[in-house]
Amino acid sequence: MAHIGRVENYLGDESLGMANPLEGKRIMLGVTGSIAAYKAADLASRLTQKGAVVTTLLTNSALEFVTPLTFQSVTGQKAFVDDDLWGGEGHVVHVQIGHSTDLMIIAPASANTIAKLAHGIADNLLTITALAATCPLVIAPAMDAGMFSHPATQENIHVLKERGVVIIGPDEGHLASGLVGPGRMTQPQEIVDEVRWLLAKGGPLSGKKIVVTAGGTREAIDPVRYISNRSSGKQGYAVAQAALDLGSAVTLITAPSSLTAPKGCQVMQVESAAEMCDAVLKEINSADALIMSAAVADFRPASYTSEKIKKEKGLEAILLEPTKDILSEVARVKKKNKLDLKVVGFAAESQDLKSNASRKMHAKAMDMIVANDITDPQAGFSVDTNKVLLLFSDGSTEQLPLMQKSEVAERIIQHLVSWLVEGAG
Ligand code: CTP
Repeated sequence: MAHIGRVENYLGDESLGMANPLEGKRIMLGVTGSIAAYKAADLASRLTQKGAVVTTLLTNSALEFVTPLTFQSVTGQKAFVDDDLWGGEGHVVHVQIGHSTDLMIIAPASANTIAKLAHGIADNLLTITALAATCPLVIAPAMDAGMFSHPATQENIHVLKERGVVIIGPDEGHLASGLVGPGRMTQPQEIVDEVRWLLAKGGPLSGKKIVVTAGGTREAIDPVRYISNRSSGKQGYAVAQAALDLGSAVTLITAPSSLTAPKGCQVMQVESAAEMCDAVLKEINSADALIMSAAVADFRPASYTSEKIKKEKGLEAILLEPTKDILSEVARVKKKNKLDLKVVGFAAESQDLKSNASRKMHAKAMDMIVANDITDPQAGFSVDTNKVLLLFSDGSTEQLPLMQKSEVAERIIQHLVSWLVEGAG
């Protein structure tokens, strides 16, 4: 008996759509003296690629490791150094911070700079600017393990946290000194993800909770074999990201997937349709909307063999039985408990797309169904694009062109904004 395998790719940058919260944000990036300063250039580049306008401030110690030109080249913005403090522009920087900067990030933040920030010392352009800043401050420490665990540093970090500073990391790992321990600056992509989430707070969906299911369920035959499907989880993970980007709380109920859950989700790992059903029915009681992007198995082996089935014994057939239809269960519970819940389902069809999708939407009491033709090679399971038809319970439809899955996700979430926030529907 062969497995039904699944091919999955990392969700990757295509998940960051046009409306990501970094777009157009003004970020001040402070870089201090640490070997991790080279990673700050990567961070600056990633933030810029997501649409942020990144101005860099380098301390004199940072200049021992990296140059302003590096940052100017990747951000297209001026990188300031201490010499600018005594020129005309130093004043501009710390005034600008007070007025137009959305976020200040210090990465890497050395033990020395952290100590200065904790005590309000302002003896260089970076610390003066941090003291003048009224925007949120994010710090990614980087130092040797001994310096990080020193009570002085720990107390300083505690003081900063109490003041509302967001501390990211440090991670554990091999340090420049040869020690292994906490002190490595968190990877730039993780900092970008965290910042994206922070900037989304207060968005139009804040205070709302959206439950998203994703991936293809696995129905076990024995301890090593299962029946599954080709779903990659990409569309569901993109929907979760789009909801987070507008400030919603998101519970992602996911079947096994190689994708990384977007930062900020509450993740519930499930395997089978039955486990997914239990998780969904629990979570909808406190939710405003459910988006069923998961490819749920319709059938499962009627019996499970707890010992691995041996080849010599042979297996002529696997008897299957139907799984519970989760959306039908949701419709029943919603009615019984009088839940105010918007329900969005998906339909992957190979023929009669509109009529099949419409039938499913009404049969499962959905408010909207996202239908796609799986015979279209650009709208299949593992690709990053999708071409969908949206059908609504009032009979209206909206055909979307071929789009990134992240863009499809944004369009779906836009409908939730109009229902949950603007009171439409
Ligand atoms: N779905 C569900 N529970 C199941 C199967 C599907 O809740 N046991 C949900 C899917 O997550 C999707 C919608 O129902 O949002 C439609 O799924 P689909 O597999 O296309 O529809 P089925 O009703 O299973 O019909 P068929 O497989 O025959 O096309």
